[in-house]
Amino acid sequence: MRQAIVNQLTPLDYAGTEALNTICTNLTFAGRDLKKIVFTSNTQSEGKSYMVMHILENLARRGRRVVLVDCDMRRSFLVKRHRIETDGEMLGLAHYLVGQCGLGDCVYETNLHGACLIPAGRDVSNPMGLLDSIYFSEMLDELARNFDLVLVDAPPVGMVIDAAEIAQSCDGSVLVVEYNKTHLRDLSQCKWQMERSGKPILGCIINKVKFDTLSSKKYYNKGYYNHYTSGYYKKSSEDK
Ligand SMILES: Nc1ncnc2c1ncn2[C@@H]1O[C@H](COP(=O)(O)OP(=O)(O)OP(=O)(O)O)[C@@H](O)[C@H]1O
Ligand SMILES: [Mg+2]
Repeated sequence: MRQAIVNQLTPLDYAGTEALNTICTNLTFAGRDLKKIVFTSNTQSEGKSYMVMHILENLARRGRRVVLVDCDMRRSFLVKRHRIETDGEMLGLAHYLVGQCGLGDCVYETNLHGACLIPAGRDVSNPMGLLDSIYFSEMLDELARNFDLVLVDAPPVGMVIDAAEIAQSCDGSVLVVEYNKTHLRDLSQCKWQMERSGKPILGCIINKVKFDTLSSKKYYNKGYYNHYTSGYYKKSSEDK
């Protein structure tokens, strides 16, 4: 398998690590049939890519076979932000979907405890034609046969429709919500849009919570943290 080096992944603080552990445990228990999970949000910069990268690392550290598919073919920052280097030319999802490479050419094993990654590849101005193709859903199915979990990083569904399209090829979705940013009305619209895919919303990650505004601060005697992530909530089977 081709190799990629992730040169930069900022470690989380104590509270962030605790919250991430909870999120990952809940994802692990999501169910045998919930393997392909898409992450989206209402608007940009709420923390989808940040969260999904940390979830990838956390699950791999626990010994799970996990792959991240960067489906933000419009403007992905993943490679640049984490200073990812590959052996040879970096190929990705866009190359695969237009038939320029095989799946084995764009799945990279990383130095994050063996977690795998498919970069977005080159920028595509309108990726919808690629995402609603049979090649995309068959690719996710193939990955699900080979990995315990397939994490899919998508653009914000409140801005472009890609995530709802992607959700149709997944088993469920997770909404990343930046604390104190999104209006309830917009979040409801986002939820409605994702539910139209016919696949369940598995939960919500409340991200970038200002620690000093929360009473839970008292549980961490280190005092003040800039950000932490929390609140992964999975519907129980009784709720379905
Ligand atoms: N919990 C967090 N703690 C600290 N920084 C964070 C956290 N979540 C996100 N960030 C920072 O916020 C910025 C936006 O995050 P990110 O790129 O993951 O958002 P996104 O939802 O993927 O955006 P886009 O819609 O553009 O894809 C980045 O600089 C990231 O490092
Ligand atoms: Mg992103």
